[in-house]
Order: sequence, then structure tokens, then C-alpha cells
Amino acid sequence: MTSTTPKRVRVPDLALMKQRGDRIVMLTAYDATMARLLDRAGIDLLLVGDSLGNVIMGLDTTIPVTLDVMIHHTRAVARGANRALVVADMPFLTYQVSPEQATRNATRLFQEGGAAAVKLEGGSAVADTVRKLTAAGLPVMGHLGLTPQHVHRLGGMRQQARSESAAQRLILDALALEDAGAFAIVLEAIPDTVAEAVTSQLKIPTIGIGAGSHCDGQVLVSYDVLGLFDTFAPPFAKQYAQLGQVIVRAAKDYANDVREGLFPKSTLSNQQTSDLAGRRVIPSLNERAFAELKGARVPVR
Ligand code: KIV
Repeated sequence: MTSTTPKRVRVPDLALMKQRGDRIVMLTAYDATMARLLDRAGIDLLLVGDSLGNVIMGLDTTIPVTLDVMIHHTRAVARGANRALVVADMPFLTYQVSPEQATRNATRLFQEGGAAAVKLEGGSAVADTVRKLTAAGLPVMGHLGLTPQHVHRLGGMRQQARSESAAQRLILDALALEDAGAFAIVLEAIPDTVAEAVTSQLKIPTIGIGAGSHCDGQVLVSYDVLGLFDTFAPPFAKQYAQLGQVIVRAAKDYANDVREGLFPKSTLSNQQTSDLAGRRVIPSLNERAFAELKGARVPVR
């Protein structure tokens, strides 16, 4: 499968992509408009990441993000995606209490949000849950290394698996997730060598973020890639555009035009004879009729 293939990306395609050596491309998306644009660009997977807590909600961590918020954004992204596989993050403490709790909450992301898969953080500790979800027909992506929902236990957003023993533990966690039925694993902020070892030991694909070039795919936060999020720029993210600057420039131009009376042009509004959907509203307006209307829109037919 290539980015020009119009066929929708499905969960089993990812294992085939790994076998063929086709790199998997994933970005985060949080709304329908962005999803439509990224889908059109041929991005294989759209992740409705709980990073929306940072980039959309302006929070310091992902911990306050709720299931209802994730469902809301997943529904929007699912509407915008035609080809890309939509993966939704399960937020903090919506899957750790018990496999039953996880199944109930994941089901809402599929049924109400329209997700095609869910992602959750952790290794052996969540393997039973992953097994239960996949057995129920809910595809699961794992997430190891720097797991932002564990920021307090980890002592900050720092690189993981730096010691021999921590690297060994991470490899065992990855194998446990694969054995439990996960269809792919995100590896975040770990040394390249550890990511390479995990990738070579697994049959399922690894998707790296700050984990070097040996993973089967890559994921980044779209707001970082597009230069929209200027509060914090992770060192491993590459900016492919500076849309933040473009937006500020455009908004300044608009503000200037309004203040200077350059927009809107009064002749344009007075001659409007159709509504925003292009339907015919008023055949023509003379000054008396316009005064009678006093702002009310009266359809002619
Ligand atoms: O929430 C998120 O955006 C993520 C990616 C950084 C992998 O989990």
C-alpha cells in the first residue's frame, strides 16, 4: 500500500507493510478539517492523541483529558478521514482499573467516536487488558518508553530505557503486548539502539517518536510538524511549515482591513441575493424593501 492508494488503510495492512518494508506514516489530528487535509496528503494513520490536552486545551499534562473529550474529537477526525486509519488514545485511568472497565470505555471510542483502533500506554501491566480488548474485536496499539500519562512516576518528560536493565524490561513489555494481540506499538523517546532491537524482535510494526530511524513507521504531533504549537518544541520533531506565523500575519491583515474600513465592502453585502448555501433568497432589493426587512432573512420561495 502506498500513499497514493485510495483504499482505506485497515489494521491488517500494517503487518503487511512491515513485511514489505513500507514505512508507516502517522500524525496526530484533533478535528475534521485537519483530518481531511492530512488524509488528502496520504498520511496512513491519524492518531487522536491525548496530546490534545497540551495543544488544543492548553494543559501542562495529558492527565486531565477525559473520555468524553476524546470521544468528541475522535468523532470529528473520523468524519474527516476517508483513507487513513483513525486511532484514538484511551485517556488516563480509563483502562487501568480492570479489563472490564477498559472494554466499556474502549467500546465508547468505537461506537460513539468512530475509531478503528485504540492506543493505550504501558507494557506487561496492561497485557491482560490488551488481550481482553483484542478478543472482543477492538484493535489495540501499544505505547512504550516515554508514556506521558506516567509523567509523575517518570519524574518528567525524559528519555527512557537508558540502562541495560530498563532496555531489557522494555523489550519484554513489547513482547508481552505483541503476545496479547496488539497490532502495533509506539516507541517514544528511547535510544535508537533499543528501538532497533525491539523492531527486529517483533512481528508487529513499531512506530517511533524520538526513537531514531529504525522503527517501521514514524509519528509526530501535527501541530509540531506544521509549526502551530509554539509553547514547546520537542527536540526530535521536525517543522515542515511555520503555519503559526502565517496565521498571525493573516489575522493582522484582517484586523487592519476591518479597522481601516477596507473589509467588508458595503456594495457586496447589499447585493447579496443568495444564502451561504447558494440558495436564492431575495431576487433584488430596493432601499425601501431593505429597510422593511431590518435584518431578517425572508426566503422568496
Ligand atoms: O498523544 C499523542 O499525541 C501521542 C503521540 C505523541 C504518540 O501519544
